Amino acid sequence: MGASGPALTWDITDGFAVAVLDVKGQPVNVISRAVKDEFLACFEALANDASVRAVAFFSGKPDTFIAGADIEEFVKLGSAAEAERLSADGQEMLDRIARFPKPVAVGIHGACLGGGFEFALACHYRVATDHPKTQIGLPEIQLGILPGAGGCQRLPRLVGARAALDMILAGKTERAAKAFRLGMVDELVPPAILRDVTLAAAQRMTGGWRPKRKRPGGFTAWLLDGNPLGRRLVFRMARKQVLATTRGHYPAPLAALEVVEHGLRHGMAEGLKREARLFGQLAVTDVSRKLVQIFFATTQLKKDAGATGAPPPVPVKRLAIVGSGFMGSGIAGTAVAQAGVDVRLKDADLTRVAQGLHAARGILDDRLKRRRITRYEHARLVALLSGGDTFAGFGRAELVIEAVFEDLAVKQQVLREAEEAMSGAGVFASNTSTIPITSIAEAARGPERVIGMHFFSPVAKMPLLEVIPGARTAPGVVSTAVAFGRRMGKTVIVVKDSPGFWVNRILAPYAGEVGHLLAEGASVEEVDDLAVRFGFPVGPVTLLDEVGLDVADKVAHVMVAAYGERLQSTGGVAALVKAGRLGRKSGRGFYLYKAGKKRGVDGSVYALLGVHPNGGPRPAEILQRLVLGMLNEAARAVGEGVVRAPRDGDIGAIFGFGFPPFRGGPLRHADDLGAARLAADLERLAERHGPRFAPCDVLQDLARRNAKFYP
Ligand code: 3HC
Repeated sequence: MGASGPALTWDITDGFAVAVLDVKGQPVNVISRAVKDEFLACFEALANDASVRAVAFFSGKPDTFIAGADIEEFVKLGSAAEAERLSADGQEMLDRIARFPKPVAVGIHGACLGGGFEFALACHYRVATDHPKTQIGLPEIQLGILPGAGGCQRLPRLVGARAALDMILAGKTERAAKAFRLGMVDELVPPAILRDVTLAAAQRMTGGWRPKRKRPGGFTAWLLDGNPLGRRLVFRMARKQVLATTRGHYPAPLAALEVVEHGLRHGMAEGLKREARLFGQLAVTDVSRKLVQIFFATTQLKKDAGATGAPPPVPVKRLAIVGSGFMGSGIAGTAVAQAGVDVRLKDADLTRVAQGLHAARGILDDRLKRRRITRYEHARLVALLSGGDTFAGFGRAELVIEAVFEDLAVKQQVLREAEEAMSGAGVFASNTSTIPITSIAEAARGPERVIGMHFFSPVAKMPLLEVIPGARTAPGVVSTAVAFGRRMGKTVIVVKDSPGFWVNRILAPYAGEVGHLLAEGASVEEVDDLAVRFGFPVGPVTLLDEVGLDVADKVAHVMVAAYGERLQSTGGVAALVKAGRLGRKSGRGFYLYKAGKKRGVDGSVYALLGVHPNGGPRPAEILQRLVLGMLNEAARAVGEGVVRAPRDGDIGAIFGFGFPPFRGGPLRHADDLGAARLAADLERLAERHGPRFAPCDVLQDLARRNAKFYP
């Protein structure tokens, strides 16, 4: 980020300096080298000015304090040594602030992240606003690096090793209230008095007063954080947990753990050295590059209207939903919780409506339980939910989403009925995973107002939304659906109206290969385990169970009908459905489930499928077949314009079903393997296992031109 004009300015009144950071021309404050130089100059001037007795520091941005170090700057670094120097320079600057001879109090409003929080940690007193925009934390791990400006040293000293590791290793950010409870900030105030309270703290400190910080947690905290033996136990447990969650794919959490431990054992100076060294090493890893690319891709998507030249979105204040089942109620609860809109839920009878409202309210209850919202907010949001067995209220809704049974005729019927009740300007969105939007829209009086919004289940948790314009959808309808999806907290990609859209399309060969592998003697556990070791959150067999085998079977039929033989599986899933095994929801699928918990594989499944686990193909081949089949289909879909850019395809796969983020998504992964190698491997698989593996034209073309998806 390049700044124009000074970012850091200060005024001195009655012996108090009020410094304000406002990086001009940029939406958020970030600490670049240039800004760091300004910090140094500012604090030097204030140190030398005998009239200054204390400093109060604020951000000049309305909604962010400081978003951290400038990510764009550190991704350009060419070597670990350079990155280490950058970290050491940052540490030195913050060390000067920590040792500043006059008290420094900081008033935090808005995002205070990474290097921004590390700066606040170096200050002598921290006041934060209790506003929802105030989020405090160290998200560096999510970028594949570690807090490199003293955060791995100062945070554990302030809040104890356990709480600090909890924040640092997960790259968590917390709302101000939680940050206050943990001791990360000293005082919590409404925004209107932030300035006065911060100044008052600075003033108190000039009289020699210092905050007395008592770590929360009582005896347990003392036992685990307060002595070396307890701490050793904490580190051992944390290491075990990191290894279990990262499976060795992400080096940053282990490195951060080492840095925190080293600092607590050998002192701050040694800890800082190790911190800078490991920051340097991590900053140039491929994993970090991939995670940073994901950060910038999601940031770009936040601004994407979804259609070129689209008019601004219609602000949705009232949402109506048809179908109060699992999806409908999930959409209702999430829309209220995230976007605070008025929601009207409609179903055929009041019993179902009541169940749907209850489930939607469950999402709000969960937020209350996890203290994401206050009791007051909870009551206000619950009051926004209403329902009925008629279309009453639909006339005032700017957006109607249907989430009824996955059947074209049923959806068209709902569309016709809803249109009767809707205003001429309302948008009708269909939540479908397989049915073409253009077909649904054929029943509409206003097909230009019909669009697809494919949510993933469970709606409250899954971060992706596919928005699908039909052949006649108006651009303003696209931007309205995209903007509302974003307000619901989703990362939104706009995809072409084609069977399976993007996510289910590229999942089809991956899930379909399961049947072939089992038929050849592979075991369920081995197939899942290999996929998890590759980096997927769950293997394909578990995924099938989670989605529901009946749903998966239905999707598979649609895909085969649309794309033919290459997506044909062996029919194993259909056999299980016939036997009443629907996956997790029925307590039995490929696996057994008891009280919602996954138990082992149900051995009788093999007999049902008429197969025997007897070793099957080699592990490397199993993995190749699972992954390369998916990459091939992804390449083919890109060629057909299913996604508007490789960026959207990768983000869709990462957020839609957890394609390993450290691999950057299927298209980045294909680029890393190289189209020529990929095509050659697919040829070999095709020779041995049939034409479903034949490399698609797009890959062959890339291979011929020695080209990539990304420039
Ligand atoms: N560096 C560079 N650019 C950044 C940035 C950062 N740390 N944080 C945000 N930006 C940019 C975005 O890329 C975007 O740029 P654009 O307008 O040119 O596309 C712009 O700021 C606005 O960002 P968002 O669209 O994301 O704005 P939001 O209001 O939705 O979110 C935010 C604001 C919560 C601050 C979010 O941007 C965010 O999470 N930023 C990253 C925070 C982070 O990871 N910080 C750690 C940095 S690493 C570090 O500090 C290392 C240290 O330990 C040494």
